[in-house]
Amino acid sequence: MTETLIINNNLSKEEKYKILIPQIKALVTGEDDFIANLANTASALYFGMGFFWVGFYIVKNNELVLGPFHGPVACTRIQYGRGVCGTAWKNKEAIIVPDVDKFPDHIACSSDSKSEIVLCGIKNDTVQFVLDIDSNKLDDFDEIDRKYLAKLLEILL
Ligand code: SME
Repeated sequence: MTETLIINNNLSKEEKYKILIPQIKALVTGEDDFIANLANTASALYFGMGFFWVGFYIVKNNELVLGPFHGPVACTRIQYGRGVCGTAWKNKEAIIVPDVDKFPDHIACSSDSKSEIVLCGIKNDTVQFVLDIDSNKLDDFDEIDRKYLAKLLEILL
């Protein structure tokens, strides 16, 4: 299992996604436990892409509750429309934040987090969960991340 995630830091971000996403697909295929699949996906993205924090927040009783993640401990509950995650949920769309200090209402779980991307897992027109990824570098996410992470969410839904 460990050798499935071989990281080559000389690869571009796009090349890493192209290698990692089929590996994650193989990891989750045949396993119908949603939490187990989110847990392995968080770990695979953390180690495979080298992100600072990768995690899922799951919609439960009209708030987001921390789910499987990899990285430093994080806030457990986020209200609808609050922070980057709650705003992505409300707008039902991905958000890229180049500088978290410039995002009004950003919720800082770690002062080392500098930029962030959040995507929504949507089923039957309803947000089921969000994928939140933080970087300790400014402006670390772009359309390549949005494109490949959206493909990844299709595998998880
Ligand atoms: N920054 C997020 C909160 C979650 S942590 O980054 C892990 C937000 O503003 O919603």
